[in-house]
Amino acid sequence: MLELKDIQKSFGEVQVLNGINLRLEKGLVYTLKGGNGSGKTTLINIISGFLEPTQGIVAFKGKKIARFAPYRVNRLGIGRTFQDLRLAIQLTVYENILLALEKKMFAYSNKEQEKRIDAILEKVSLSEKRNELAGEISYGQQKLLTIGCCMANNADLLLIDEPVAGIDKDNQLKIISLIHQLKEEGKTILQIEHNNAYIDATSDQIFQLEKGVVVC
Ligand SMILES: Nc1ncnc2c1ncn2[C@@H]1O[C@H](COP(=O)(O)OP(=O)(O)OP(=O)(O)O)[C@@H](O)[C@H]1O
Ligand SMILES: [Mg+2]
Repeated sequence: MLELKDIQKSFGEVQVLNGINLRLEKGLVYTLKGGNGSGKTTLINIISGFLEPTQGIVAFKGKKIARFAPYRVNRLGIGRTFQDLRLAIQLTVYENILLALEKKMFAYSNKEQEKRIDAILEKVSLSEKRNELAGEISYGQQKLLTIGCCMANNADLLLIDEPVAGIDKDNQLKIISLIHQLKEEGKTILQIEHNNAYIDATSDQIFQLEKGVVVC
C-alpha cells in the first residue's frame, strides 16, 4: 500500500528525519509514536505532499508520489487530518464535508453528494450537528469532523494526526469505534498518538520515532 524508503528531511541546518523506512500493508492500523518535535507530523506532511522530503522515496500502490502536490496525492487515495484541525469554522458541519469532496460544484451539492455527506456524518456521530457551525461544536466533535473530511474522498489510506489528544472520554470512544469500522471497511490507517489506552484499543503495529529514525 505505502512504502517509504530512506526519507530524510532537514529544515535549514536541522535534520528532523534521518532515513525513515516503512512499509504499510492494506487494511491495518499503524501508530506512530515519539516525543514532541520528533518529526511525526513532518512525516505525515511528506506523505500527503505538504512538504517535500530532502531525500527519499514515497511510493503509494507502486507509484512514486514524493513531489506531487497535496491535491494530487489526495486524488490518488490518501486523506489526512491536521493536528490543528483547520476546519472552516464559519461554515456548517455539513459544508465542511462538502468542501472536502473532490467533485464538489461550488457550494452546492447534488442529491448523490448529499446522501454521501449524510452517510459520513452518521459514521462520525455528527448527524445531529449537521447544520451547526463547525466553530460552535465541541473540540471532540471537531476532531470527529476532521476525520469525516478525511473520509470524504473515499481515500484508501488515512493519515490521522493525534485524533484523541485533549478530548473527552465519550468522543474518544466514538473515535475508537470509528477506527474499528474504517479498518473493517479495508482502510489503511497511519495515525499519530500519545494516548496509550487509545493506542492499545486501535493499533495493529506501533512505530517509535527517535532521533529521526524508526527505532521499533
Ligand atoms: N515547516 C517547517 N519549517 C521549519 N521547521 C519545521 C517545520 N515543520 C516542522 N519543523 C520543525 O521540525 C521538528 C519536528 O516537528 P513536527 O511537527 O514534525 O514534530 P511532531 O513529532 O509532530 O511533534 P508534536 O508531538 O509536538 O506534534 C520541530 O523542531 C519543528 O519545529
Ligand atoms: Mg505533530
